[in-house]
Amino acid sequence: MPTYQFPEDFVWGVATSAQQIEGGRNAGGRGDSVWDRYALQEGAIEDGSDPFTACDHYHRWREDVDLMSWLGVDAYRFSISWSRIMPDGKGLPNAAGLDFYDRLVDALLAAGIEPFITLNHWDMPAALTDEGGWPSRDTVAAFVEYTRAVTSRLGDRVRSWTTHNEPWCVATLGYEEGHHAPGHKDPEEALRAAHHLLLSHGLALRAIREQVQDPSAGIVLNLVPARPHSDTDEDREAARRFEGFFNRWYLDPLYRGEYPEDAVRDRVRRGHLGSDRLPFVESGDMEIIQAPMDFLGVNYYSRATVSAGPEGDPVRAPLGPDVELTEMGWEIYPEGLTDLLVRVTEDYGPREIFITENGIALPEKPDDEGRVDDPKRIAFTRDHLVAAHRALERGVPLKGYFHWSLMDNFEWGHGYTKRFGLLRVDFETLERAPKASARWYRDTIAANAVSDEPAGV
Ligand code: FCB
Repeated sequence: MPTYQFPEDFVWGVATSAQQIEGGRNAGGRGDSVWDRYALQEGAIEDGSDPFTACDHYHRWREDVDLMSWLGVDAYRFSISWSRIMPDGKGLPNAAGLDFYDRLVDALLAAGIEPFITLNHWDMPAALTDEGGWPSRDTVAAFVEYTRAVTSRLGDRVRSWTTHNEPWCVATLGYEEGHHAPGHKDPEEALRAAHHLLLSHGLALRAIREQVQDPSAGIVLNLVPARPHSDTDEDREAARRFEGFFNRWYLDPLYRGEYPEDAVRDRVRRGHLGSDRLPFVESGDMEIIQAPMDFLGVNYYSRATVSAGPEGDPVRAPLGPDVELTEMGWEIYPEGLTDLLVRVTEDYGPREIFITENGIALPEKPDDEGRVDDPKRIAFTRDHLVAAHRALERGVPLKGYFHWSLMDNFEWGHGYTKRFGLLRVDFETLERAPKASARWYRDTIAANAVSDEPAGV
């Protein structure tokens, strides 16, 4: 059995986000976020649940840090709840909110775990949504103000900063498809939202560089390779269109200072833009967006198989019965991770890459003692780590891997129906218990290597 040894300084981590684990909805002066409000809408969340308690990490964070110590992770990627710091969206930061993260950061550092902070993992203050949310240019200044509040407090101890998590989801799912908060369905709004996310990223990067000593700053994108369903010209064209809007709409501005021309033309054709002069782009914006980043965070879960739908635009093609799917209905396709990382490196030359999320939701039942045996999660993670290792061998500047997620949590529109955790959370008692995959991940980290033979099971 081959063993894949990782570099000495490879960063092993786990990831979470504030809205998905913290709870403590109004504790310590927190204001409502756009997701708190969205969850209250009839039918918005699959199981009718809400994120108001979630994993109660707000009160149980010490125990969670201890569990991470037990896992032996080098780093923890988490996000700051924007509305805990800026309950009304603007004005003076909420001291109790900053204190919470201050204590968390100190506990992590004391445990030898490096904090990797994400500033926006989708939970903007509801108050800002009332003023237009991401489609409004004023939100850019509000985000920078919030960034300054956080970096001026934590920048002396935290080196690694991510501005946004998956801007595609915020813009497209939130403002075009309406599956995420705030649930709008307006493609033009989505394009403006995407631009303001990118612009605020560039400006926040400046703020981070001013306030953090020796910062490492970047953005996290969810990149999805597209495979044409068939070899017809139509399906291949559909795959181009899919990637143009999903991946290149973000990568091109960030690394080349321009929106991809072909994807802009697609939007004009579909009537989402009046012309190829993007009305929301002001002079100087693209230079700000293109500011060099220290790293690119890549979230990888699956690929998309697409075929040409009406007018040739991409639609998801049905997958054959032999394709292995996760509980989310996503194809398990580890090879895609190698290809994706190699391609991004060749096309855009990021200085460093971190896999900032990768994981799997599974249907799982604990035994009588509350134990979960999840060999599928072990196999999934092992295969993706092997794929990551192959990318390293091919010269990708991959510096670390963060498993999504440390624990089962509030999976957005799916509520608590999808479990991604290495730790099982009992949502009645809020107890956490390591699954078999947690023990396997612990052994993998200790060995700094993955072998085709599942260890520790
Ligand atoms: C990603 C999100 C993360 C989690 C996983 C399953 O898109 O960043 O919060 O929901 O998917």
